[in-house]
Amino acid sequence: MFKSHGCGELRLAHVGTDVKLAGWVHLRRDFGGVIFIVLRDRAGVVQVVVSADVSADARAAAAEVRSEYVIQVEGTVRRRPDDQVNPEWLTGEIEVEARSVQILNTSKTPPFYIYDDGAVDEALRLRYRYLDLRRARMQRNIILRHRAVQFIRQFMNAEGFLEIETPYLFKSTPEGARDYLVPSRVHPGKFYALPQSPQQLKQLLMVAGFERYYQIARCFRDEDLRGDRQPEFTQLDFEMSFVHRDDVLDVVERMFTAMVPEVTPHKRVVSPFPRLSYAEALDRYGSDKPDLRFGLELTDLTEVLSASEFRVFQEAAANRGQIKGIVAPGCAVYTRRELDELTEIAKREGARGLVTLALAPEGPKGPAVKFLTEGEISVIAEKLGATEGDLICIVAAERRVVAAALSALRLTFRDRLGLVDPDLIAFGWVLDFPMFEWNAEAERWDAAHHPFTWPRPHTYEEMIADPAAVLSDAYDLVCNGWEIASGSIRIHDPQVQSDIFRILGYDPADAKAKFGHMMEAFSYGAPPHGGMAPGIDRLLAILADEANIREVIAFPKTSQATDLMADAPAEVPDQLLRDLHIRIDNES
Ligand code: AMO
Repeated sequence: MFKSHGCGELRLAHVGTDVKLAGWVHLRRDFGGVIFIVLRDRAGVVQVVVSADVSADARAAAAEVRSEYVIQVEGTVRRRPDDQVNPEWLTGEIEVEARSVQILNTSKTPPFYIYDDGAVDEALRLRYRYLDLRRARMQRNIILRHRAVQFIRQFMNAEGFLEIETPYLFKSTPEGARDYLVPSRVHPGKFYALPQSPQQLKQLLMVAGFERYYQIARCFRDEDLRGDRQPEFTQLDFEMSFVHRDDVLDVVERMFTAMVPEVTPHKRVVSPFPRLSYAEALDRYGSDKPDLRFGLELTDLTEVLSASEFRVFQEAAANRGQIKGIVAPGCAVYTRRELDELTEIAKREGARGLVTLALAPEGPKGPAVKFLTEGEISVIAEKLGATEGDLICIVAAERRVVAAALSALRLTFRDRLGLVDPDLIAFGWVLDFPMFEWNAEAERWDAAHHPFTWPRPHTYEEMIADPAAVLSDAYDLVCNGWEIASGSIRIHDPQVQSDIFRILGYDPADAKAKFGHMMEAFSYGAPPHGGMAPGIDRLLAILADEANIREVIAFPKTSQATDLMADAPAEVPDQLLRDLHIRIDNES
């Protein structure tokens, strides 16, 4: 055995025990006759004291070691003198007196400090990811991820779900993003697509009679990357037969309510999870992924201001737009510059401007005050529940813009005013999504979730009468302002499925080429079914208090979809391309 204990496991109870440790040199301090080494392994750090009085050989070896050398230490655990106890370490009450120190491997000087979690250029961290992963923050995150995934597996197993793998080499699926394609060598000119999710396959597993399936599934999407998006990411993908919507929600709600206290005991989950319709989420928060940890809800002023003489309000009301506002408590004192920043935020979301009213002790202030009557200002303040000292922000524009601008401002105030408890985990269900979305560019209806979602109503005549009014049995789970999971009750009736394709404008031959296998499968007794897919990376980022999902993925890609460590994507030898019948066209 290389080691008898993990470095970070040793406690007062081990005093007097002979131990054998192995790990990395975290820090080393040389006081001549005595050398202190902080030794680190996965379990944590411990102080090792190497004294020439105990062993001259050990002292000589310790003099050679440098940061990140791999060493083995044999010695005895002893209590630290009271004045040397380090309360910040779990091992801070003890140290190991070394009898022998052996260098197992040397190390070059790392490009950044491993022993501190301070800021390091991210490109450097990603290039030396294996060193970055040695740091406490990343060890914590990756271990947390392991525990969360193990919890999920145990939970799903106990609920009677079967873990079933599905292929990576599959066919293009219509999930909205671009596919990653894999050229076929044996079928010139043909391509597999890496699955954007196992959506079709899990539905086919329901047709196959497995009734409850899950998988910790890797998904691949070639889309523009952001902090919450990676080109390959992981879902807990699951599907259930003979269920209604609430049966699916119940599984997820019970799982996460139990999981959070188990893997992150310092976090608090709000339960039961509140339920909002999509329309209500947009109305109250301006977002279909609202952060439910705080209030600052949007208030509709369209009706009370529709008769206003103020041109900005008049135009919005006349163009079937909206006038809505939020109140920032105590922000009446904001400076010109701070107000300009808020206006910029609203403009970034498409608003032409932002109306601000500061309820100062001497009376309402703001560029729009001169265009509003006293009565209007007091109605606004009353409707919004604003009082002296508050700042009122109003956006008047088309609905979509009002929602986006006020939602962005709401989140800005959240951060500026510190409105949330960072240890609160506020899940919420968003239900009753629209089935179709008008794609103005392509002049057609698109599926808002995916085309396999059960519509309400579901006959062709009812749907085509007003596609915008058709709702779907799709549902999202949001958490702290992130969309964590999506799912739906699916279409199991081939007639309804082909009607949906018809409304989406697929010509029948096209639908057959793309989804013929699904339509055919559904003609062999498909059970009513539905499912969901929580994103593991996003959930873990929230639990680990990270703003970017890269921090909870061992080997993530950059925002340019590159791997800086292995230098991927990379060119390949010409022969490989020839085998795959591919010629590179440098012109396009
Ligand atoms: P959807 O596409 O909404 O649904 O994805 C479900 C969840 O997966 C996560 N997610 C991502 N995480 C990181 N990077 C990405 N690029 C990324 N894209 C999505 C999110 C999201 O909520 N097959 C359906 C699910 C179903 O209907 O059962 C699907 O994939 O957390």
